Amino acid sequence: FPSDKIRNFSIIAHIDHGKSTLADRLMELTGTIKKGHGQPQYLDKLQVERERGITVKAQTATMFYENKVKDQEASGFLLNLIDTPGHVDFSYEVSRSLSACQGALLVVDAAQGVQAQTVANFYLAFEANLTIVPVINKIDQPTADPDRVKAQLKSMFDLDTDEVLLVSAKTGLGLEHVLPAVIERIPPPPGISDSPLRMLLFDSFFNEYKGVVCYVSVVDGMLRKGDKVSFAATGQSYEVLDVGIMHPELTSTGMLLTGQVGYIVTGMRTTKEARIGDTIYRTKTTVEPLPGFKPVRHMVFSGVYPADGSDFEALTHAIEKLTCNDASVSVAKETSAALGMGFRCGFLGLLHMDVFHQRLEQEYGTQVISTIPTVPYTFEYSDGSKLQVQNPAALPSNPKYRVTASWEPTVIATIILPSEYVGALDILLNGQAVDALATIVHNQKAYRVGKELVEKLKNFIERQMFEVMIQAAIGSKIIARDTISAMRKNVLAKCYGGDITRKKKLLEKQKEGKKRMKRVGSVDIPHEAFQQILKVS
Ligand code: GTP
Repeated sequence: FPSDKIRNFSIIAHIDHGKSTLADRLMELTGTIKKGHGQPQYLDKLQVERERGITVKAQTATMFYENKVKDQEASGFLLNLIDTPGHVDFSYEVSRSLSACQGALLVVDAAQGVQAQTVANFYLAFEANLTIVPVINKIDQPTADPDRVKAQLKSMFDLDTDEVLLVSAKTGLGLEHVLPAVIERIPPPPGISDSPLRMLLFDSFFNEYKGVVCYVSVVDGMLRKGDKVSFAATGQSYEVLDVGIMHPELTSTGMLLTGQVGYIVTGMRTTKEARIGDTIYRTKTTVEPLPGFKPVRHMVFSGVYPADGSDFEALTHAIEKLTCNDASVSVAKETSAALGMGFRCGFLGLLHMDVFHQRLEQEYGTQVISTIPTVPYTFEYSDGSKLQVQNPAALPSNPKYRVTASWEPTVIATIILPSEYVGALDILLNGQAVDALATIVHNQKAYRVGKELVEKLKNFIERQMFEVMIQAAIGSKIIARDTISAMRKNVLAKCYGGDITRKKKLLEKQKEGKKRMKRVGSVDIPHEAFQQILKVS
């Protein structure tokens, strides 16, 4: 297959929007798996995925497809599809998979519309410069509203509504348009076939018979079984003992060409030698290493100990093999007075931690005890030194210096949600909302902030000719109120007699002042008031 007949794409979506089901249908359509194979979500192979009904591991499948464009002859294409997880804890899986692709099918549920992980995954794909093919799935549902979802895709991601595919992965409706769109819209891989070999190691797993299996994407050049290859990060060299594609099971092909995604087996002895993101090249050639991946940021740490203290060896092996398949876990040995020898592991979130424990038990038969999860803390002492603590036991109870500051991780988050879910705090003047003063605050702070805003407003708004009612409200609920009583304000009151120029001057001044006022309904608010009020937090 020349690379212009290759397309590498992934399927991204929010949880449960139907990625794995769509992947099944595409594999059936191309004869990669048999129809009615009796195993829905074929690529969700792990027991934990089947039990929980979620994808936790990205999976790759190579498909062969004859594309018939109207008057032209049918031509064969090699399509590599990567099914990715939807849950946020596994977005590292998604970003790694995207590095082996040029395009992505962005699947959105026709009833639910755009959801949090739709947005997050869209941006991962967008930042990776992938061509995005929008697919609205589940159009068979009675509550499906594809027009609303199309409008969302347009307004949030600027996607062309004419390019949105409407499908039902369940009934098969519209599916025939998906692969032609992949071929027409997603560019072929850009590699150079007569350049020296360069491959990206994007995933790996441990197989009882083959040992460490590396998933690679061939960026430049080509690879044959028996070739000698070196790994840039580890500096190790190996002979390629087996090479092939995932069709969808490992299928030897003897070679991989530019742009292809496949697997290689070398004589690696330990899983540590397969470093995810590494560049693989032909031994004795010089190549520029590929950019690799952003390092993972661990959010949650917990101790993992064998349930039976004597099983430490077995746990060590199990963890080593499992981390080969899950590069996002960090592992360091630790000892606990109560539990003996074990490991401190770093995870991307609580679901990730849960899944890791379950996989240790189900796939490796190890019973583990895990300690209460904790986030990493940093402590600063009076001598200026800092200590990072991932395990509560590591915090000295009698330190030489006093702790002067401590930090815990915080998240800078952007929350996108439909307006009906926003419990916005409105400020009303005589019943009319002042949009510039509306704010979103935490429930617990709403009463305090509301009261403060009302008080400040009362101080800054001058008395008017009529009574002004100031209210703070959440929806229709008023949580704070006050009134400014009416006053007859006459700037000319102090001018006795008929000094017309003085009167004029005063009126001019009043007009000037009015310009700097913001009129809300019938109430004037001075600009300074806005500035002062917005200082409340
Ligand atoms: P994660 O991997 O957990 O992120 O989920 P996913 O996006 O892979 O979703 P999955 O394919 O597991 O589908 C979720 C549910 O939606 C399953 O119960 C599917 O049977 C159902 N489903 C998928 N496609 C359709 C469709 O077109 N119509 C209807 N009605 N249901 C669908």
